[in-house]
Amino acid sequence: MMMNTTRLLVLLLSVSCIGYSQKKGAKNTAKIKPKAEFVADLISQMTLDEKIGQLNLPTSGDITTGASSSTNVGKNIEEGKVGGLFNIKSAKKIREVQKIAVEKSRLKIPLLFGMDVIHGYESTFPIPLGLSSTWDMELIKRSAQIAAQEASADGINWTFSPMVDVSRDARWGRVSEGSGEDPYLGSLIAEAMVKGYQGDDLTKNNTILACVKHFALYGAPEAGRDYNTVDMSKIRMYNEYFAPYKAAIDAGVGSVMASFNEVDGVPATGNKWLMTDVLRKQWGFKGFVVTDFTGIPEMIDHGMGDLQTVSALALNAGVEMDMVGEGFLKTLKKSVDEKKVTIAQIDNAVRLMLEAKYDLGLFHDPYKYCDEKRAKNEIFTTANRNEARTTAAQSLVLLKNQGQLLPLKKSSTIALIGPLADAKENMSGTWSVATRFEKSISLLSGMQTVAGKNANILYAKGSNLEYDAALEEKATMFGKTLHRDHRTDKELLDEALKIANQSDVIVAALGESAEYSGESSSRTNLEIPQVQKDLLAALLKTGKPVVLVLFNGRPLVLVDENEKVPAILNAWFAGSEAGLAIADVLFGDVNPSGKLTATFPRSIGQVPIYYNAKNTGRPLMNKEGKFEKFRSNYIDERNEPLFAFGYGLSYTTFNYSNLAISSTKMKANETVKVSVDVTNTGNYDGKEVVQLYIRDMVGSVTRPVRELKDFKKISLKKGEKQTVTFEISIEKLKFYNSDLDFVAEPGLFEVFVGTDSNAENKVSFELVD
Ligand code: BGC
Repeated sequence: MMMNTTRLLVLLLSVSCIGYSQKKGAKNTAKIKPKAEFVADLISQMTLDEKIGQLNLPTSGDITTGASSSTNVGKNIEEGKVGGLFNIKSAKKIREVQKIAVEKSRLKIPLLFGMDVIHGYESTFPIPLGLSSTWDMELIKRSAQIAAQEASADGINWTFSPMVDVSRDARWGRVSEGSGEDPYLGSLIAEAMVKGYQGDDLTKNNTILACVKHFALYGAPEAGRDYNTVDMSKIRMYNEYFAPYKAAIDAGVGSVMASFNEVDGVPATGNKWLMTDVLRKQWGFKGFVVTDFTGIPEMIDHGMGDLQTVSALALNAGVEMDMVGEGFLKTLKKSVDEKKVTIAQIDNAVRLMLEAKYDLGLFHDPYKYCDEKRAKNEIFTTANRNEARTTAAQSLVLLKNQGQLLPLKKSSTIALIGPLADAKENMSGTWSVATRFEKSISLLSGMQTVAGKNANILYAKGSNLEYDAALEEKATMFGKTLHRDHRTDKELLDEALKIANQSDVIVAALGESAEYSGESSSRTNLEIPQVQKDLLAALLKTGKPVVLVLFNGRPLVLVDENEKVPAILNAWFAGSEAGLAIADVLFGDVNPSGKLTATFPRSIGQVPIYYNAKNTGRPLMNKEGKFEKFRSNYIDERNEPLFAFGYGLSYTTFNYSNLAISSTKMKANETVKVSVDVTNTGNYDGKEVVQLYIRDMVGSVTRPVRELKDFKKISLKKGEKQTVTFEISIEKLKFYNSDLDFVAEPGLFEVFVGTDSNAENKVSFELVD
């Protein structure tokens, strides 16, 4: 990649009067013109090939998620046929590649360097589903800031995050990458993440361009199978799925990634209604759209035509950048000749790409993110790891704690058993491309550290992840091995039972492996794998108290476990510091406060299941969930989930009282205030997420049985009481009607306030004309 200096000089001289004046390896001290002028100037100097080149995004091949990888990358960069590169790691490598672009290519246009920095960089935070369970926007924003800080110190200037796809189907492996099922909470998180990554000034060297994905509706594939068909009414899109994407746009996100799925019969990548009418005309998006990995050629398999046709379709739809597909590179020129696309369209796409580079300050200093000193000092620092640990502890959800089995005493003899107990490679979960697995903290190591020398922690693996080695292999890819133990199942179990019998309490670390969820990891079974269920049953049989620490990238079906195990702590994949964070909670240094953002079903047959459902014309009449013939229910299962949206326990208890509303009537230009007293009635200081749901009782279209409209996360000392007040304005009452107008309709509204989406305390008011 290095170039000979004489050649370089000749090159620099030969291009000294074109492009902008970029000095070798240094900041461009010449004054750069204002954006519009600068970009227009540059475009006027570009050949058609160079323009098309700006729209091409190959992968470095370091990390790949699709079948194809890019070819001839170095040569293409030199020829100005590349606009950016992704998934290449290290400031040093990136500097070398950037050097080719700014010193060897004719116009010296710097490259974007993208990466899937999804939940932290080397200091890895919980998977997004876990992060969302904190319900803490400051913490979430901070996690994105730290991710940006570390990624930018390593050469990255663009992240493919946040992923904001609402999903109600736990079979889909990518629920782990999103913020759960709620459009309101999802919107706040989308905004927090965008602001965290981009900051208020993209030209700083520690902020990076965000990319909201996957636009749109990727979280609703039929049967929960990844990449599968999506079919949805527009009213549902607008009311239930679009909000988080729009929130990211409103927060100023610089780029959008198209989803793989079709939307209303046309793949998102070629969908003009989606990319132009909705995204740009209705929402006013000003940045650029990138396809997802090979999204353009995949339209051939969708049945939309050959490579030239689908590439033109994408450009015409309003897509600017082609990730890995090379459809633009290979066919756009021909499409210009054949008048299938226009130069004006290409110019517009190029303009958006160059503007993004301009906004990042890359024309001023293409190496601004390539400071190896920064990489050394700012990545995986103790401070960042501590923040990852604190955040991780907030993401854990206590599902059950019978007889206050938790927290554990640091001085007890603990048998830590399970395939996830000593599994550092799996702690960070899916999409952790920058994580240093060897440095991640396993639960065993975290518990040893937090408990200190008085604890006696015994460890045995107990079982493999799965009886079936081939299945285990699929769920432990990308270096996330669980080091399959080749002893017999009985040998593993016997060893576990031996230490279980010596212990005061058993901690069973069970569940999914990191790659059991994530891309292309859909499941048709949402239970803990059978071999682990058998292990758990054997552990319970010892008569020792059992705490289940559950590792999961999705809601699981936990009916058996909930029936038989006294304490369950849902740990997700909590990041590089997971082991410490889980230990902090297990030993009571941190009181758990996480709340579910996705419903946990009783049975996979209930999926898709979500709290903000419609009532139907035949709702159940009894509250006990008893079967009623000719009503909307199942003959063999109850309707309610096992754990509802918003659910999560604490080591302390909270009491809600005095729910009050300031007025029972509200005019459009007024607000009403709803207040409630929350008292910490237990024995620990703690945090509670006070949740407010609204039901619109009558509408011109059917409305959900309730919708989250506000919440506050408060800290209460033992015995302390706080009055929490919410203000309801007309904005909280609006929805999209049949004409897709965003309106509030007069009538009765019920307001529920409480600890989860089953909150029963309610007040009501009327919206009057
Ligand atoms: C995923 C995206 C990701 C991209 C680049 C795709 O397979 O769907 O979420 O950003 O790869 O790695």
